[in-house]
Amino acid sequence: MKNIDYKNGKLFFLDQTVLPNRIEYIHPLTKEDYYYAIKTLQVRGAPAIGIFAGYAMALLDDDKYELKKYLDSARPTAVNLSWATSRMIKAYEDGKDLVSEAIAIHNEDIEMCKKISEYGLSLLKDGDGILTHCNAGALATSEYGTGLGPLLLGKEKGYTFHAYTDETRPLLQGARLTSFELEKAGIDVTLICDNMASLVMKQGKIDAVLVGTDRIAANGDIANKIGTSGVAILAKHYNIPFYVLGPYSTIDYNCPTGDDIVIEEREPSEIKEMWYREPMALKETKCYNPAFDVTDHELITAIITDRGIIRAPFKENLQRIKDND
Ligand code: MRU
Repeated sequence: MKNIDYKNGKLFFLDQTVLPNRIEYIHPLTKEDYYYAIKTLQVRGAPAIGIFAGYAMALLDDDKYELKKYLDSARPTAVNLSWATSRMIKAYEDGKDLVSEAIAIHNEDIEMCKKISEYGLSLLKDGDGILTHCNAGALATSEYGTGLGPLLLGKEKGYTFHAYTDETRPLLQGARLTSFELEKAGIDVTLICDNMASLVMKQGKIDAVLVGTDRIAANGDIANKIGTSGVAILAKHYNIPFYVLGPYSTIDYNCPTGDDIVIEEREPSEIKEMWYREPMALKETKCYNPAFDVTDHELITAIITDRGIIRAPFKENLQRIKDND
């Protein structure tokens, strides 16, 4: 099942907001359709929104510079979005064919995910219990995914893993998307509420934590779905390796530390009203709804990219892969 499907000159995307109950594809036509899809998380996950925006830049007739600004403003935290639109602007200025460039971004992501999955798998053992947070699978990328990549690749190679997936409040990407993807792939998966992670770690059920990332700062701090930093703190407490998986394009060398990452803040209605027929809190209750948080590099065991496994000291080792470019 493809999340972003370009065929016969037309783009279709899988609406992730109605998963796992319905499989519905939408064909966006205007810049507002693309913006809305990114903003409302119909298309979500850092690499996927980059790929999707790449197609928007290629297929829409709007002024490319204005379009880039407009699309970038849909979600501020994942660097892949502005990375992809900047790459499309460069292609436009160089007079390249924009559809081929968008397809290239898409195909390169498939390759990157495969490499990340292989590196990630090399750190795991058959039978491991794995905790995931949010969704960093094929739905969030192209194929395999980043955080889920080692599990999906491992399954193909005959490994048996026991995945525990945090439901990931407030938008439930773990419940709706990760458990769906893992079930479909035939991987043993147990869904837990976010506040159960400590218990399953204490009970010895977790051998490693795998998460994706929306932006990697130059010092190795990473932004990912809200709640990730708490999971990293728990992993440190229980002495469990905490692995962050993401492509090279997620490293933002212009961003010195996690404090420089803009954290998207979303509507209170996602906390108060979204998942039940009745409101889940009083109308007047104040809400704070940051969509991401930053995990300090000191809590990270390794960052797994398509260019290899990076360990501390992160600043120096992240710089080294840039210098090898
Ligand atoms: O708000 P979302 O669902 O787009 O958040 C997604 C995540 O936090 C993912 O872990 C991250 O984008 C990496 S996806 C490979």
